[in-house]
Amino acid sequence: MNLNNYNYTEHWDNVYENTQQEKLGWYEENPEPSLGLIKKYAKLNSIIINIGSGTSNLLDELLKANFKSLIATDLSTVALQKLEARLNSYPNKVKYIVDDLKNPISLKNIDLVDVWHDRAVLHFLTEVEDQNTYFDLLNSKLKRGGFVILAAFHLNGAEKCSRLPVIRYNAEILDEKSGENFKLIESREYNFVNPNGDDRPYIYTVFHTIHIFRVCLCNNNF
Ligand SMILES: C[S@@+](CC[C@H](N)C(=O)[O-])C[C@H]1O[C@@H](n2cnc3c(N)ncnc32)[C@H](O)[C@@H]1O
Repeated sequence: MNLNNYNYTEHWDNVYENTQQEKLGWYEENPEPSLGLIKKYAKLNSIIINIGSGTSNLLDELLKANFKSLIATDLSTVALQKLEARLNSYPNKVKYIVDDLKNPISLKNIDLVDVWHDRAVLHFLTEVEDQNTYFDLLNSKLKRGGFVILAAFHLNGAEKCSRLPVIRYNAEILDEKSGENFKLIESREYNFVNPNGDDRPYIYTVFHTIHIFRVCLCNNNF
């Protein structure tokens, strides 16, 4: 597959247009461990953004659990339209934002969020420049005291997802990538078995924002 000038928007729109949700390679009927981690760290009034949400069942489960301020964002308009149609019994609780994490525009204007959740999205950013854009956005959009949940293919996992190459991670690499504003507070390896019955080992990590207080002891004139 030649990825020079590849149209990723078309790729993902075609995937969501032509594949039944339950047949998607990343489909989870029960979106764990994400759901458990969000319930552990978020409050019911937290603003939670699901990065590269696709048509995942995660937001359905969060709405059922009474979370009230959700954002679903994705490159694929088709995916978000399907998700919005499915969740139409929860008016005003979810914002849908079509945007590209490699060149975010609308996402730069959202309110700060309490929880940033990403399962199987960051790993598609194979260029360091795009990864930096991703982490710049994350840094600018997370509240102080906020939590970040990142789930990506593990180092010993598959090299491709949806026929696209991925970067694989472990907790140490994600910790280094996330930078000095975040403290890794939890990580776990998780073997997801996809709808074809294949193993897809993931690494799940949770980060908390660090408050840096600078104390000057050099001058006691104040
Ligand atoms: C493997 S799917 C995972 C979907 C969902 N997070 C889940 O766990 O079910 C990857 C998702 O990332 C989205 N995506 C890929 N590249 C993206 C980009 N550059 N910006 C925004 N979304 C992107 C795709 O459209 C797709 O919905």
